[in-house]
Parts: sequence; structure tokens; C-alpha cells
Amino acid sequence: MALKTINPTKTAAWSKLQAHFETIEHTHLKDLFAQHTNRANDMTIKWEDFYVDYSKHRVSKETLDLLLELANEVDLKDAMGKYFGGDVINQTEGREVLHTALRNPENAEVLVDGENVMKEIFEVKHKIKDFSNKVIGGQIKTYKNQPFTDIVNIGIGGSDLGPAMVVDSLAFYKNHLKTHFVSNVDGDHVNEVIKNLNPDTTLFVIVSKTFTTQETLSNANTLREWFLKHAPQEAVSKHFVAVSTNIEKVKAFGIDEDNIFPMWNWVGGRFSLWSAVGLSISLAVGFDNFDKLLLGAHKMDEHFKTEDFDKNIPVITALLSVWYNNFFNAETEAVIPYSQYLNQFATYLQQGIMESNGKIVDRNGDKINYQTGTIIWGEPGTNSQHAFFQLIHQGTKLIPAEFIGFAKSLHGNQDHQDKLMSNFFAQTEALMNGKSQQVVIDELKAQGASEEKIKELTPFKVFDGNKPTTTFLIEKLTPESLGKLIAMYEHKIFVQGIIWNIFSYDQFGVELGKQLANAILKELHDVNVINNHDQSTQNLIKYYQSQG
Ligand code: F6P
Repeated sequence: MALKTINPTKTAAWSKLQAHFETIEHTHLKDLFAQHTNRANDMTIKWEDFYVDYSKHRVSKETLDLLLELANEVDLKDAMGKYFGGDVINQTEGREVLHTALRNPENAEVLVDGENVMKEIFEVKHKIKDFSNKVIGGQIKTYKNQPFTDIVNIGIGGSDLGPAMVVDSLAFYKNHLKTHFVSNVDGDHVNEVIKNLNPDTTLFVIVSKTFTTQETLSNANTLREWFLKHAPQEAVSKHFVAVSTNIEKVKAFGIDEDNIFPMWNWVGGRFSLWSAVGLSISLAVGFDNFDKLLLGAHKMDEHFKTEDFDKNIPVITALLSVWYNNFFNAETEAVIPYSQYLNQFATYLQQGIMESNGKIVDRNGDKINYQTGTIIWGEPGTNSQHAFFQLIHQGTKLIPAEFIGFAKSLHGNQDHQDKLMSNFFAQTEALMNGKSQQVVIDELKAQGASEEKIKELTPFKVFDGNKPTTTFLIEKLTPESLGKLIAMYEHKIFVQGIIWNIFSYDQFGVELGKQLANAILKELHDVNVINNHDQSTQNLIKYYQSQG
């Protein structure tokens, strides 16, 4: 069954939220805390190893009730049933959206065209397990009968960002295999990776759902050509494996059928790290850790499916995001992990969030006149404090931020951990409370500043505060907790898409540029054919030709 098509702005809850917004827009978080004595306890969700405090948000109990009313009015519950139940909710591409099935236990039942897909999912999982165990253990050998030392993941978008982010995030759990990622069609990327490879001991994993993506096929061809300069043709079957839905195209590339790890059309690229797309993860950290990642995601699926909306982490975080996006007109959201391991986390989320919800047409096919898709960005703390935090604290833009921290450090260096976490706590406190004029004056007086100096400097040193943040304090960065965190964002994306009445699982917006690039590629070395472009593009191409 199709998703309902309810325009959120036409709901009663939306009108109430608009009226309510006028009353709360200028209220300071400090006042909200003063009015509601048990606020932090009431606005914290404790679940498993997650402690999620959303009390530092510019909402009252009434705001939250109205946001929950909105979720009910757009019938989020009904949409969730269709999401988990395998309905064709990716309507424009005629597909189910079943990445959640990939982390189900084996005895679950998920029907696609009347067939329970759990059987196929587990067949592929067994293949991933067997293959990664044997590569790691050295039983699967190179064409020279040696153990493999290096893995190269060749893919882009969802076939790169998920595996790359998880491998980086779980570096603490990594085994001896060195993992590399090649994604950009920029030849400098593949050539830089090649510099560090020994063809005799490198395994290439080509990941492409469609197996038609220009970047991936170019990189795969370049790497195969380079490999064949050092190895005989027969060695390709031992050194190249592929993950794809397009078995024919993979075979045409010259990969043995045994070396193909299938995936399915009902898994969207940006949600595919749980499938064989995660093969590089399983190779890098071992299948058991890959499976724990999936278990964490499954636990989050269950939390999302069964928990009341007012205690439901993806629902609450999605509603808060709608509140800022559609009522405060905040354009961006920052994600700040206080873990260097999560260095690539915001980059990964950018595809998930912006490719899914960057849409201007609703589920009726009508142009939308309200804001969708947030711009997401971020870098780990404390580095980001020394880079862009100035603007969050004292700039003119409202930037809601999600702070993600871990109570226990992996390497156990308590001195560093305490320093890291004191910054983690201090930043959200500073963003909320700011620093008043009086405090600034008192501080300057205490430093012995003259009256004149105090008058001159005070306006620059005041912090208004009232900057909203959510704090995710998680016990420890483990494969399981990372799985929970990623799945939390996947469901947050889903909830927002439902509220905004858009289709979150297609990505037609990436097509036009690809089409034009294909046309331009043919023209780059032919001076005569450049006549059908606008003047600017034509000039640029001509200039490029003159340089070449
Ligand atoms: O950027 C568009 C896109 O289709 C993504 O959605 C996808 O993750 C990526 O390209 C790669 O596609 P494929 O896995 O088919 O190579």
C-alpha cells in the first residue's frame, strides 16, 4: 500500500505549532529551565547504553505535545508499518525499502512478492562470513599462494561512504588487513592509493549496486589494468570480487560468479552498508564485529518500532529537527562527535540526509511551499571548537547541533578522556547559557581593565546563548553502539520524510549532472562540437581545451 499523502502544513497541529511558535520564539532556554524544574530529567531518554538529553532545546512541554500531534496527524504509525512491512514506499522507483530486514534475526519473516527474503539475506551473510574469515585467516590466498595484506574498496556514494565511515569509526577493532577506499573519478585518488599497494597481495572489492556508475567502473578498470601489468590474466579471478545487483554486468567485467556477492533492489545505496556492501567492513574488523553492528541496528529498529513516540529517540530527534527547520527557519544542523574515530560521520550522514530529503515535490507530485531537507555538516570536537564554533556561539545563524560523546575511552587514557569530555559538556552548557553583559563586566573588572576598556570590549565578549543542542552520551564506541547510532539517523530521515510528505528513497536530483557530463565528455577533445552550450559553459570548455 502506498504512503498517505498528507500535507503537513494543512494539519491542525501545524497551525497550532505556528501560533505556539510566536509565543515561544524569543524565550530563552535559561527561562525554560527555570519554569520547568525537572526539565532535564523529563527530557532525557535512557535506552540501553544511550543517554539522550534533549532538554537544551527551545521547546516546552506544549511544543513537544504539538509536535507529537503532528506526527500522529500525518499518521507516522501507519507509515512505519509500511516501511518495516515491505510495502513499495519508494513509489517513484517502484521499490520496497527494506534495509531493516538486513539486520533481522534469521527466524524473522519479511515478504517481497510473497517470498520471505530472510533466506537469501542469510545465504549472503554466510557467504560474507565464510569469505572474510578465510581472507583474514589466510586460507583464501593470492595467485602466488600468499595471504592477502590489503583490501581496496572501489565504489562511490552509498557504495563507499558507509563502509569507509564504519571502517574508520571501528579502527580500534581492526585486524592486520590494510583497507583502502577509492571513490572519486579524479585519477589522483586512485593513483595515490596505488602508490601504497602491492599487486601480489591486494584484494579488490568492486561495490556498485547498478554496476554502471562511471566513477566506479573507471576506477575498477584502472586498477585491473595496473594489476595486469604485474600479474597474469588468470589471477584476476583470485584478486577481484564484486558486490552488485547486476550479475550480468559483473560477469562481463570478468569476475567469476563465485566471487559475486549479491544485493537487492529493495536496499537503497545510502542504506546498504548492512548488506554485502559492508564486505569491506567485515574484512577489516571481522565478521563477528560486522554482525554486532547489525545487531545494534536491529535493536534500534525495535526501539523505533515499539517505543511510544514521546520516548522514541528517532521520533523525538526528527520532530526537533522539523521544529527548527520549518518554524525557526534554521537551514543547517551540525553533528559534532567527540571521538576522532567518527571523523567521517558527518560526511556519511550528508548523503543519507541530503540525498533522501532534499526534495521539492511532495508525494502528490506537487511543488512544495515549505522547507524540507536540512543541510548537515560537522567535524569532531575538540578540533571543530578551534575551527567553526565561533560562528555557532556568536554568529547570526541559528544552528541546532547534535553532540555525540562516549563515556568510556577505548584506549583508556583517562587524562585525555576527561579533557575531551569536559569540553563536550562545557560546549552545550555555553551554547545554552551564554555569558551575560554583567558577567563580562565583572570579569573585566577582576582583570583590572579600565572603565573605558570595559565599555569598549563588553559587547564583543557577550554570548547570547539560547543555542539548542541534543546530547547523545553513549557508554562506549563499539560495533553495536555504532550500529544503533547509524540506524537512529536512518529512522530520523524516514520520520522527517513522512512529515514533509516527500519520497525519501529516490534520488533523481543526481541524474541531470551525470547526463550532461556524459555529453560533455564526448566533446572535450573536439573543437567543432561545442556549440550547444550556454556561453559560460562553452567558454569554460574551450579554455580547458586550450590548456590541454
Ligand atoms: O549518487 C547517486 C547514487 O545513485 C547513490 O544513491 C548511490 O549510492 C551511488 O550513486 C552509487 O551507485 P552504485 O552503487 O550503483 O554504483
